[in-house]
Amino acid sequence: MSINKTKTVLSQDTLSDDDIVYLLGLTDPEDCALLQQKAFDVTTKYMGNYVYYRGLIEVSNICTAGCRYCGIRRENHCVERYTMKTEEIVKEALDAAKMGYGSICLQAGERRDAKFVDWIEAVLEEIHAKSVSELLPEGLGITLSLGEQTLETYKRWAKAAGTMSLRYLARFETSNVNLFKILHAAHGNHEKVLEHRFKIMENLREAGYQLGTGVMIGIPTQTLEDLCRDIRMYQKLNVDMVGMGPYLLSEGSDLTEYGMMEPDKLIQLSLNMIAVTRIVLKDVNIAAATALQAIRPDGRELGIRYGANVMMPNLTPTKYREGYQLYKNKPGLKDTPASAARVFEKSILRVGREVGWNLTGSSIRWQNRTGITETGDAKRILPDEEVYEEWLEPAATK
Ligand code: 5AD
Repeated sequence: MSINKTKTVLSQDTLSDDDIVYLLGLTDPEDCALLQQKAFDVTTKYMGNYVYYRGLIEVSNICTAGCRYCGIRRENHCVERYTMKTEEIVKEALDAAKMGYGSICLQAGERRDAKFVDWIEAVLEEIHAKSVSELLPEGLGITLSLGEQTLETYKRWAKAAGTMSLRYLARFETSNVNLFKILHAAHGNHEKVLEHRFKIMENLREAGYQLGTGVMIGIPTQTLEDLCRDIRMYQKLNVDMVGMGPYLLSEGSDLTEYGMMEPDKLIQLSLNMIAVTRIVLKDVNIAAATALQAIRPDGRELGIRYGANVMMPNLTPTKYREGYQLYKNKPGLKDTPASAARVFEKSILRVGREVGWNLTGSSIRWQNRTGITETGDAKRILPDEEVYEEWLEPAATK
């Protein structure tokens, strides 16, 4: 009975809110398998067979915001704060490029002071200048995930990044105004306002970024209807990319008393959300969030099966990783550009996809909207054996 209903719902060209809520709530393995297959097929049809890497570099955990769910919120005094050196960031980015990553993502806690803004600008200029090569004629694709900034700052960083494969991730976390308030009800002058977050997205568009957003899934009290409205909001914002993952308890959080969803249910809900987002939005990039893997070792692989087409291996130097625990059990503490490239490639091939080596992989929606077509063939070019082994070694010994 339920299988038939699922088949009928999935056979339609457009989904109603009721259909979306129905699909998000699926738990029966046979129903979920149908949803997964549909999302996978839609991904293949609109995005092709490649999964793109974005090497994630968490450049600093200093944060002026007080988001209550987050392990690096400013009130958490148990975290040792760090800021990477410019040379370290550039080295990590260039190692990623050498390994065939087409893009990197710089993420940090939120800071708006002039010193920080200038520093990021300089880092971007250097990465761009040094990463232009025969394989990457435009240099590395750049994604920024550096919080709420002024339009002027967004413009300066866009110019410094020097590439059209330029993206910004700014999740709105939930479209439910009351829940957003609860999540961000911290004291101080950096209080978060949902409407402001949407304004930020307009500014990012104006500054020329491919726009990425997302939510947390399974936040205490969040309903399936809320998640449906989140998907409608992605549509309304006409986003180019989505990154979303399960809500997880964090050691340094101010929300521990509310608990979190039971892991098996949470992972299924998260995968359903990825799948339904893919079916509704079709031609956007969707990341298999790291948080999926905090629940299950094959979490990110499952994300790809359910319609994600972007993987973000963590390339932050090992010594800093303990300091960037947004939530508990964050995986990948020992990944290096080389080891992560290899491990994720195995998962990606297992799922029946290929890695988009040396491709920046901008979303098709963005390419269609702007008329800019990215070209190139995915080429797996290993650096010479010695360098490769040297890179693999630290991961193998820790
Ligand atoms: N669980 C899941 N995701 C989290 N994030 C922060 N804290 C948590 C948590 N406890 C996510 C937020 C933020 C992104 C950088 O990390 O969605 O936008």
